[in-house]
Amino acid sequence: MTDSINTAQLLSVAKKAALAAGEEARSMLTGPLNVTSKGFRDVVTDADLAAQSIITSTILEAFPDHGFLPEEENPDLPTEGPVIWIIDPIDGTTNYSRGLPIFCVSVAAVRANSPLTLDDVLAGVVYDPMLDEMFTATAAGPALLEGPRGLHGRLLQTSSIDNLADAIIGIDYPYAEKYRRPTLDIVKNLGHEINVFRTLGTAALEIAWVAAGRLEAYIDYQLKPWDIAAAGLLIKQAGGVISDVEGQPLRLDASNLPVLASNPHLAQFLTV
Ligand code: IPD
Ligand code: CA
Ligand code: CA
Repeated sequence: MTDSINTAQLLSVAKKAALAAGEEARSMLTGPLNVTSKGFRDVVTDADLAAQSIITSTILEAFPDHGFLPEEENPDLPTEGPVIWIIDPIDGTTNYSRGLPIFCVSVAAVRANSPLTLDDVLAGVVYDPMLDEMFTATAAGPALLEGPRGLHGRLLQTSSIDNLADAIIGIDYPYAEKYRRPTLDIVKNLGHEINVFRTLGTAALEIAWVAAGRLEAYIDYQLKPWDIAAAGLLIKQAGGVISDVEGQPLRLDASNLPVLASNPHLAQFLTV
């Protein structure tokens, strides 16, 4: 069934949707925002909902028979179809809710399958609207950075740094104490070995930056499918490695994913 799916067309719609959603999020960043609690340490703003609605309507216009797995629950959206769109309308909402301009939009088109894994991702984009940088990939093609300042269509490749002493590693602090504890162990143990940790608050963008060679690795013990669907494809197509923190394959139909994304040289030193 999926042989007939045109991945170039999926990518084109993903880019269109992410660009429009990102523009909306950027324009709403400086205005008054409604911020509501979704749970412990977890908020949502009206910009998340506006951005998601732009993405889903753009996709439905192009592919009325596709399904959705979006971060923000919406019972009106179909959940099944030959392709499932996994969407994080604003990744970095805690930053966004305080006016911190470090966030992205993540959109991935995934072949419906069971179990659902990163191998099913057909096309994905991570868009940073503040820098106008669009990270794109298809399963059959390269990972690219498309954006301003002469960066159009640059091939993404993970970094060649192969020693921990030079490694810049993104890490984030999970919501739940259960996952925060092993995170703090990693900070304590690896903190003496590496160049430095960065905690930037937007997993999808940080994983895209690993794909671009700006960070050597990213570790997060409590991610969701929409944090990694697009960025995971970027990593794979840029020559990197993405797995759980023990080096095992990741599922996209599970939650609370302990994720390690790395350049190929350092993954062996970072698995637990
Ligand atoms: C969060 C960010 C954060 C990560 C959290 C995610 P959100 O996504 O990616 O960096 O540590 O686990 O939930 O809520 O801003 O979309
Ligand atoms: Ca997210
Ligand atoms: Ca989000």
